[in-house]
Amino acid sequence: MRPEASRHLLAAAVLSTLGAITACSDPASPGDGSAIGDGAATDSGGDGGHADGGATGTPTWYQDIQPMMAEHCWTCHNASNDDAAFDFSDPAMAVELADWLNAKINGPDDEPPYQMPPFPLGDDEECDLGLPITGDLRMSAEDKALFQEWVDAGTPLGDADAAAPYDIPPPREMWGDRIEDLSPMSMTTRDGQKGDAYNCWSWDLGITDPEGAWLTGLRVNPDNLNIVHHAVIMADYSGRTAPAGGGDGKCPQPDDEVPDATMLATWAPGADPIILPTDAGMHFPPGTRLVSATHYHPNGTGQHDATNITLAWRDTPPAYEVVTLPLGAADPGENDVPNWEERPFHLAAGDDDYVNTWRDPHQHPDDKEFRIWGLFPHMHYAATSMRVTLEHEDGTATCIADVPVWEFDWQRTYEFDVPYDELPILQDGDTFAIRCGYNNSASNPLLAEKMEENGLEFQDISIGNGYLDEMCVLHAIIMQEYDGRFEREAAE
Ligand code: HEC
Repeated sequence: MRPEASRHLLAAAVLSTLGAITACSDPASPGDGSAIGDGAATDSGGDGGHADGGATGTPTWYQDIQPMMAEHCWTCHNASNDDAAFDFSDPAMAVELADWLNAKINGPDDEPPYQMPPFPLGDDEECDLGLPITGDLRMSAEDKALFQEWVDAGTPLGDADAAAPYDIPPPREMWGDRIEDLSPMSMTTRDGQKGDAYNCWSWDLGITDPEGAWLTGLRVNPDNLNIVHHAVIMADYSGRTAPAGGGDGKCPQPDDEVPDATMLATWAPGADPIILPTDAGMHFPPGTRLVSATHYHPNGTGQHDATNITLAWRDTPPAYEVVTLPLGAADPGENDVPNWEERPFHLAAGDDDYVNTWRDPHQHPDDKEFRIWGLFPHMHYAATSMRVTLEHEDGTATCIADVPVWEFDWQRTYEFDVPYDELPILQDGDTFAIRCGYNNSASNPLLAEKMEENGLEFQDISIGNGYLDEMCVLHAIIMQEYDGRFEREAAE
């Protein structure tokens, strides 16, 4: 691995699907409507603390469950968003589907989405740095147990007039000297059109200053959630995605190919925007274009989507520069290289438990301090888990991230929510050990679905760019004091 962040080019043919928004597949309905209204009221006191069942009484919707769901579910599952997901602010809906919800909460369920809320970072003590994570949706063990108790008790509603107060987490605000909306994407589907459709959109960011520009945030604003499903957002430093004649619009490539570009983020409904800390910025050199490889899921009726992207910029150089270290295996040339613990990478058809570890030694100049601000694990459909450990030169090791149940649809960036001085230090000489697990068999529902959709038999899988190839990728997002040197350009 080169010392500085480099443009390790991820040809992101990672275009693939979020599981179809399926009709509710007859989840068992516990106690049916009969549970409504017969709940025993409890005295949780409205302080946000939950009655702990047992001696004090049975948990009820209004006293215990509603505040929990408001905090962990309603940012996505609410009345205004119910074309993308169920409305769980409706108690009748939550009661009717309680067993199903419980399977997602206390799961993992064996059908995707495997777990809800969709924040698949593990809480294994061995792997917990004890740092808060921005936008953490995870439920505590107590909350999960309380939900189970509520289901076991027959989903009592409790007393609506004495409902405990609740908070829905507010969306995070973008910040910067300039906040701009890019021109919207424009996708039209036909009546009768179904299946998957992919499109690549490219924007001229208008960066002409030789010093470049400093990005502070990026947000996808979905328009028509009936068809827009998922997007991979990339920076194209080479300008190769420019449509004929320049300007904004469709990339010149066929629908499912994106020219080499560096991945910044993936978006799925409910995903958080990327918002850098207020003393930081990400440098874009002049001529950089923004690219979205957008996946649509036409639903059989003619629709139009005009999803757009909001960017935030700062006008002055930041105290800290944010750079991405693209680590791990992504290219076909990386199947038989010494970085793998077991060489070559060999994911045979039918193998339901293949684990291999990729190691990337890290170096940086003596006069620099690198701190880890965020981690973005990335794999495809055969993947089942990832665990990232920093191996230090003195023989000790620190586990920094664990994704015990990998789900393609819910990959996200994990950001440590602490000031620069409290972020974990990345030492010169540390090695990233990225342990990736896979299941290339029919017992992997996401992969089985993709195979069926494409009329394929299970086959040996190698590392590569196609969405049915595999990856074992980690983007380590680093913060360092900005000293007038642009690390990314310096690496070229
Ligand atoms: C960040 C947004 C988000 C949050 C928070 C969230 N969900 Fe979801 N959830 C979704 C989306 C989007 C889907 C639809 C996925 C699909 O169909 O592909 C979904 C699907 C589901 C499903 C399955 C529906 C189906 O179509 O298969 C259940 C059940 C569910 N969520 C329960 C919950 C519960 C319970 C919580 C809180 C404990 C929660 N979710 C929190 C976004 C979210």
